[in-house]
Amino acid sequence: MVLGSSRPMFLVAALGLAALVSAKSQFGEACSQSNAHLDAGSFQLLTDCDPTLYCADNSTCAYKGCRKDTYPFGYNDYLYDQLPPLCPEGQFCPDEADQCKPQVAIGEGCQKDRDDECQRPPNYKDLAGYLNTNGTACLNFTCYLADVTLGQTCVNDNTPYTAYNDEGAAYAFIVSRDNCANGLYCDGTELKCMKSKLVGAVCSGNKECLSYNCDNSKCGKAADAVVHPPSWQYVLIGLGILILIGGVMTGLWLMHRRSRKENQIKLEQYYNEQIAYRQSIMSMSHAKNSLLSLPPNTSPDFARQSLYRDNDAGWSSATDGGLVPPNMRRDSTSGWSDSDKPTSNMAQADSEVLLMPDQRYADAPESSRRFR
Ligand SMILES: *[C@@H]1O[C@H](CO)[C@@H](O)[C@H](O)[C@H]1NC(C)=O
Ligand SMILES: *[C@@H]1O[C@H](CO)[C@@H](O)[C@H](O)[C@H]1NC(C)=O
Ligand SMILES: *[C@@H]1O[C@H](CO)[C@@H](O)[C@H](O)[C@H]1NC(C)=O
Repeated sequence: MVLGSSRPMFLVAALGLAALVSAKSQFGEACSQSNAHLDAGSFQLLTDCDPTLYCADNSTCAYKGCRKDTYPFGYNDYLYDQLPPLCPEGQFCPDEADQCKPQVAIGEGCQKDRDDECQRPPNYKDLAGYLNTNGTACLNFTCYLADVTLGQTCVNDNTPYTAYNDEGAAYAFIVSRDNCANGLYCDGTELKCMKSKLVGAVCSGNKECLSYNCDNSKCGKAADAVVHPPSWQYVLIGLGILILIGGVMTGLWLMHRRSRKENQIKLEQYYNEQIAYRQSIMSMSHAKNSLLSLPPNTSPDFARQSLYRDNDAGWSSATDGGLVPPNMRRDSTSGWSDSDKPTSNMAQADSEVLLMPDQRYADAPESSRRFR
């Protein structure tokens, strides 16, 4: 129990101590220049001071006087205008970034991998390349010209950086630099400049390949190589796009055609319904007239008798060409259906809607004839 509860306490205390130790001094606080060193994994300069400060000669932290990167580390809370200045051409900002200094001559000392601290040669345009800076290289803390030709003795500078894989495990990532001219590399065992290898050749390090990419012991494509897809891929993608567009268009067209058809049928039915309704009203009014207005000179008794006679002038049956009672409706089977009926069938179905088999009214035929 005692052990179980004290262990987390110890861990917290240790973490707090670590935070205290790693806390950097602020402006004006004490620091020691002798504590400045390169980080073992990243070879970055570490001092006692905050990243925006350097350890000045009077052993206090002071604000940096220049910067070597356009966007320097540690200046998240600063506006671009508030950053310390970049150095003009011919000068460099050292790692501690106290102030700009003039570039040094070839053969003199430079800071780790700071090729830009070396004076560029007059023919820097011929020597400048991917693996040097304006024709100079800082190897083993000394400025060199990157101009050694094929077969000549060269200087190698291997730096094992600490890298981390997906699981967080550390491994050494060795960067090898040399002073051979462009298109050559310094062989690690013979220390002589050799011709860089083409894609597909056997290699043991990135710098042996012209593409600077040694992948599984063979020179691979450069990391920034342009990918050129074969033309059949263009054709395939183009066809795919066309088929997709065509499919969407056809689908929309089919959908629209279907709904247009449904709408038309509904409209036709509504129209027929209206005509039937109108004719029902007219039949009703006609029937009322024929029932209530007796022919002239009819005695009430005769009129009463006519209700029970079949073949008289008054209406009694639909079979003798008289009027159909107004409440005769079309049969229910002629209702709208989803099936694709030809329009001629529809016209026949519509004709059932009409109450009169033969049009008797002067105004009925022209409206109903539309659907014949
Ligand atoms: C120490 O030196 C820096 C840079 O020269 C200066 O800004 C700072 O005021 C000095 N501090 C003291 C206590 O002299
Ligand atoms: C390299 O040369 C170019 C062209 O003159 C110049 O703009 C650049 O500042 C030089 N780089 C360094 C690190 O001196
Ligand atoms: C690096 O330089 C030091 C002296 O500055 C020298 O003793 C050492 O041999 C050099 N190393 C290589 C690999 O050239």
